[in-house]
Amino acid sequence: MPDKIKIRLAVFASGSGSNAEKLISYFRDHPVIEVALVVSNRPDAYVLKRAERLNVSSVVISPAEWRNPDVIKNIFTQNKIDGIVLAGYLLLIPGYFIRMYPDKILNIHPALLPEYGGKGMYGMHVHRAVIKSGSPKSGITIHLVNEAYDKGRIVFQKSLNILPGETPEGLAKRVQELEHRYYPDVVERYFSQ
Ligand code: GRF
Repeated sequence: MPDKIKIRLAVFASGSGSNAEKLISYFRDHPVIEVALVVSNRPDAYVLKRAERLNVSSVVISPAEWRNPDVIKNIFTQNKIDGIVLAGYLLLIPGYFIRMYPDKILNIHPALLPEYGGKGMYGMHVHRAVIKSGSPKSGITIHLVNEAYDKGRIVFQKSLNILPGETPEGLAKRVQELEHRYYPDVVERYFSQ
């Protein structure tokens, strides 16, 4: 199948990008979907090194550029991007961009939404809050992004049981294993339907 009729995804990440790397590897040589672009808001994000090593184009988009819809529209039309996958992206996505990609932006959250979501709930903050609450379960949520960030329609959840004496760090590691195992597969099913 020629490249141009594949579904072209952009993966957004602000930090390490371990999920971005899983997605890139999973869709390498995939017949229907490709990761065509990595987007970060930080020029020093490790995800950019991963993109380079894996031969995927990347772009750093600053908050000032995000405030200019024409600049953003140019970047995404030039790269022919059909859908967006957020994987540890910490900037709020502006409303005009959500309207550019209706039901075409997925995010992964490292807990079972609607609990432990919203402002300030990212990374270790989430796992510390879960452990502190005494909740018996955590897990991952993959959801559509709307203007209220962690409140879009849930597409997939997978839970795990909190172990006796589990630390936030231990939980983070086990949740990340779930992310790596399920995110590429859920993205594939969502964007090929
Ligand atoms: C993941 O835990 C994801 O759920 C959250 O940010 C983290 C990104 O990790 N939204 P990585 O950069 O993919 O390693």
